[in-house]
Amino acid sequence: MRRKLAAGNWKMNGTTASLSEIEKLLETHPDPACEMLICPPATLIAQMAWRCRNKHLKIGGQDCHWAASGAHTGDISAAMLADAGASHVILGHSERRTDHGETDAMVLEKTRAAWAAGLIAVVCVGETERQRDLGTTLPVVGGQLDTSLPEGCTAANTVVAYEPVWAIGTGRTPTLDEIAEVHRFMRATLVERFGDEGAGIALLYGGSVKPSNAAEIFAVADVDGALVGGASLKAADFGAIVDALAAA
Ligand code: 13P
Repeated sequence: MRRKLAAGNWKMNGTTASLSEIEKLLETHPDPACEMLICPPATLIAQMAWRCRNKHLKIGGQDCHWAASGAHTGDISAAMLADAGASHVILGHSERRTDHGETDAMVLEKTRAAWAAGLIAVVCVGETERQRDLGTTLPVVGGQLDTSLPEGCTAANTVVAYEPVWAIGTGRTPTLDEIAEVHRFMRATLVERFGDEGAGIALLYGGSVKPSNAAEIFAVADVDGALVGGASLKAADFGAIVDALAAA
């Protein structure tokens, strides 16, 4: 049985006032039938992780540097995230790729760094609207998987998130058939490269997931959960998505 994971990416949102959303989530979902992860801005990780110790809500980072330490002003290492209480780190999000010029090669190095610190890497892939219009979605996603994932991926150390760039924050989503096609392709690609471990790696869909569409997306084969942006900021919305996944 693959793990089911409802992951929230708060992006550059949230201050200490937002800790109340975590409190609410812990109250309404003390022991859900799937894993829950919130990736707040780095400033909140330690406080949230402390609040969530011994609870069924994991806390993660949104990025890390590939180096263990050193002269990298403004960056955070995987070991620092782990030290703050994080268990996961999102890597290669399209906003990092666009805003900071992150390449697949960097994502690969970051993934290795995450593992070295004992973190689970949540590696993001996905096509732009133009790439989809050109009919190149599968080659683009396949290329990202090939060059962003190092050797040594296991079901325990890696999660892959498919996030079509054009679906992020837009309210638009691919059709269920389109999601199924990409997830089937990703599964086959991972199995071919990593064998049984590839069969066990959780595959998340991300991009405009909300309470109203979560159940139908979770019913798609090889969708093991979601990476949720906007709808993860409110405990009620994220909780509803967790419920849909737990019931899937
Ligand atoms: P939205 O759910 O806001 O579309 O964001 C998706 C995302 O980028 C999660 O990482």
